[in-house]
Amino acid sequence: MVNGRDVVRDVPGRLLLSDFLRHDLALRGTHVGCEHGVCGACTVRLDGAAVRSCLLLAVQADGARIETVEGLAAPGAPLAPLQEAFRTHHGLQCGFCTPGILMSAAELIDDGAATTTHEEIRELLSGHLCRCTGYVGIVAAIGEACGLEPEAEP
Ligand code: FES
Ligand code: FES
Repeated sequence: MVNGRDVVRDVPGRLLLSDFLRHDLALRGTHVGCEHGVCGACTVRLDGAAVRSCLLLAVQADGARIETVEGLAAPGAPLAPLQEAFRTHHGLQCGFCTPGILMSAAELIDDGAATTTHEEIRELLSGHLCRCTGYVGIVAAIGEACGLEPEAEP
């Protein structure tokens, strides 16, 4: 199941999950940067867990529930609160890293936003490369989505 929709396909055994999502299902919000598990751009959720889709084969997702960034808000529907927070806090510039970060943040929020700290958000972001923002807006956005008080200016 991908973004709540049943998907049945025959795929080559060596097809990466990232390529399956982007090329077979045209879900190109999942970005591919390093292709070896370092940059985090390809992060999607598999049965709720944030995973790097460039490190998984499509066949490994057989029977699983996959969520991509397109699943956060339906076309034409209002943005999810997490996405709105990114807009408010200028948490993106070029946007290449953004879908992966959103999916990791969504897992963090589902797993217990009430107990999250800004330190945990920074730890989460250690697995995501962003060349543009300096991360400050991203931390603020995820913090707001978790219901945290804004951090004091340094
Ligand atoms: S493309 Fe998967 S971690 Fe970089
Ligand atoms: S917004 Fe450009 S890489 Fe993060």
